[in-house]
Amino acid sequence: MADDVLMVAVDGGPGAAAPWVEAFARRLPDLAVAALGDAVDPARVRYVAAWKHPHGALAALPALEAVFSLGAGVDHLLADPGLPAGVPVARVVDPDLTNRMSEWVLLQVLSHHRQARRYARQQAESRWDDDPRQPAARAVRVGVMGLGVLGLDAAAKLALVGFDVAGWSRSRRDAPGLACYAGAAELDDFLGRTDILVVLLPLTPDTAGLVDAGLLRRLARDGRLGGPVLINAGRGGLQREDDILACLDDGTLRAATLDVFAREPLDRASPLWRHPGVTVTPHNAALSDPEAVADLIAGQILAHRAGRPLDHVVDRVRAY
Ligand SMILES: NC(=O)c1ccc[n+]([C@@H]2O[C@H](COP(=O)([O-])OP(=O)(O)OC[C@H]3O[C@@H](n4cnc5c(N)ncnc54)[C@H](OP(=O)(O)O)[C@@H]3O)[C@@H](O)[C@H]2O)c1
Repeated sequence: MADDVLMVAVDGGPGAAAPWVEAFARRLPDLAVAALGDAVDPARVRYVAAWKHPHGALAALPALEAVFSLGAGVDHLLADPGLPAGVPVARVVDPDLTNRMSEWVLLQVLSHHRQARRYARQQAESRWDDDPRQPAARAVRVGVMGLGVLGLDAAAKLALVGFDVAGWSRSRRDAPGLACYAGAAELDDFLGRTDILVVLLPLTPDTAGLVDAGLLRRLARDGRLGGPVLINAGRGGLQREDDILACLDDGTLRAATLDVFAREPLDRASPLWRHPGVTVTPHNAALSDPEAVADLIAGQILAHRAGRPLDHVVDRVRAY
């Protein structure tokens, strides 16, 4: 048993892997924990914990029993054509991460709703200019795309603040106080009642590029904010960034807050940095706490070694 190996495969080389190796070694004394690139017999590797590993690196591990994403998303794993078929892939579901995402979503929705940038500008100019048209939260329709672990929590908290909240998912969800829309057939109705669109979808072959000009043009035009707002913390691959800029310039969109981008870090030359309608955050809406993630994955490995099923295994066909 002690010969079995957990391999940590992350981008950024051995330096980036070292804290994870140490965290797992503390929790799993019966396993050898190694970093990708260490001299390890591939036939001893039973488990891999990965984040944006180099593609192909997991291809020749004949005894591999499970792969764990070090984050909530698995698009980085499933994009690897060398990911061994038939090996379960599990993701992180962490209440701390979920709460952090809801904090970020609330901050961004409230910031657009209460015109935070406008008042920051006014303060910089020592200008007192009240807006009597400020609507109540109940008059603002928020639409959450993706009603999974993150979307459902964010939607519930937005509803608690008073927003008129709906959600959209692939299969029908049933959540108290939430107007639920499902599938392509109900997408238009969902978009047509949405003033602030919050995207919390996973990146899959079905969702890649979904947030394009065609979709943004279907958002509500009769809202109280003076135009629709886009907020994306799902993945950059969900959005067409040129379309977002064009929609901001032609008035289809009033504003956008983006945490995720097609290429990260966002290039310094990207016009998104400087557009007055865009707020950029550096893909940190919900960072994983490494200690919590190590606890969760070590717990999964111990359960698996005791013959119990893994939690949060993704469907490799659905790709989330
Ligand atoms: N920015 C950050 O810091 C950060 C941090 C963590 C995670 N994320 C991102 O957030 C994503 C969502 O996380 P999660 O834990 O909430 O995922 P999840 O629990 O798997 O939920 C995914 C949701 O998206 C829906 N969905 C998937 N494909 C769809 C499609 N083609 N059409 C309509 N709905 C679709 C699912 O529908 P069903 O309900 O029908 O299955 C589900 O409601 C992650 O994949 C990751 O990319 C970002």
